[in-house]
Amino acid sequence: MSPTRRALIQALSDGAFHSGEALGRELGVSRAAVWKQIRKLQQEGWAIDCVPGQGYRCRQLSANLNAEAILAALPVSAQPWLAGIRILPEVDSTNSELLRQATAGLPAGTVCVAEWQTAGRGRRGRAWVSPQSGNIYASVLWRYAGGASVLEGLSLVVGLVLLETLADMGIPDLALKWPNDVLARQRKLAGILLEMGGDPSGDCQVVIGIGLNCQLPDALDAAIGQPWIDLSRLLPAAPDRNHVLGVLLGRLLPVLSDYDRQGFSAYRDRWLQHDACRGQPVQIWQGDALLTGVARGVDAQGALCVETAAGVHVFHGGEVSLRVVP
Ligand code: BTN
Repeated sequence: MSPTRRALIQALSDGAFHSGEALGRELGVSRAAVWKQIRKLQQEGWAIDCVPGQGYRCRQLSANLNAEAILAALPVSAQPWLAGIRILPEVDSTNSELLRQATAGLPAGTVCVAEWQTAGRGRRGRAWVSPQSGNIYASVLWRYAGGASVLEGLSLVVGLVLLETLADMGIPDLALKWPNDVLARQRKLAGILLEMGGDPSGDCQVVIGIGLNCQLPDALDAAIGQPWIDLSRLLPAAPDRNHVLGVLLGRLLPVLSDYDRQGFSAYRDRWLQHDACRGQPVQIWQGDALLTGVARGVDAQGALCVETAAGVHVFHGGEVSLRVVP
């Protein structure tokens, strides 16, 4: 991103009107250059008002990410689990950043949050569209001694914690799509990507990446390629991301600290209450192989159960894709 573009977005992020002249002065460019950048942002789908006599205003941006504001929303009881918060204006991927740093001994409970991801990653090798338009891109590092097997079902539990956090904030119509998509009105609101490092049978670390759509420009429909929704379309006003993050971390960190003792079975009943697919006809793709059946919830490990004519098949995550048959 060019420094001018970044400075312009930064200047407009307060939601107030700024004249072209003032922006030009602030950015050290001409008014025409400001106008050119504004046109480009509008073409990308940013909701920028141009009002004669008042100037430019962006209605999409919410307050910048801020560690103090996140901490203010984090309950005192969860503070011992938080090792530190890194806030980056831009990064390739917050997951990649923590995976790189994990080998240098970063402690469990370190959180990395970014305003913009230039190479955000999703499950199954897909990209996670991550514009600088006021969304949440956050990763948390945790360490476990018992190897990868203790992590089974953890990604489902992260989805559950996120859904319960959002539901308590008054967001309606939420559901979980196995393994860990959070849906609202049957559209994708958030995705979770867990990545492991270290010794798969001993001391290992896991990076838990959460992408939560808060305000996405309409123009990204094609890039996202699946039905999506964001918090600004579900709430009367754009959410305060710092508050959402603080409250979410307050619930997530204690769960992570205890997960190797609890396992998925402690959360299974709660997860099933929000299962978007249970009882529905579904298709399961594993590479090019297709299996059809009826979704029957998840077992005590968080594996998906699908009933077919040949009996119940159990899927343990990984490269499996689940679709509800319309
Ligand atoms: C999915 O495909 O549903 C998972 C999306 C996970 C996106 C988040 S955004 C923060 C973290 N950094 C990444 O590159 N990916 C995860």
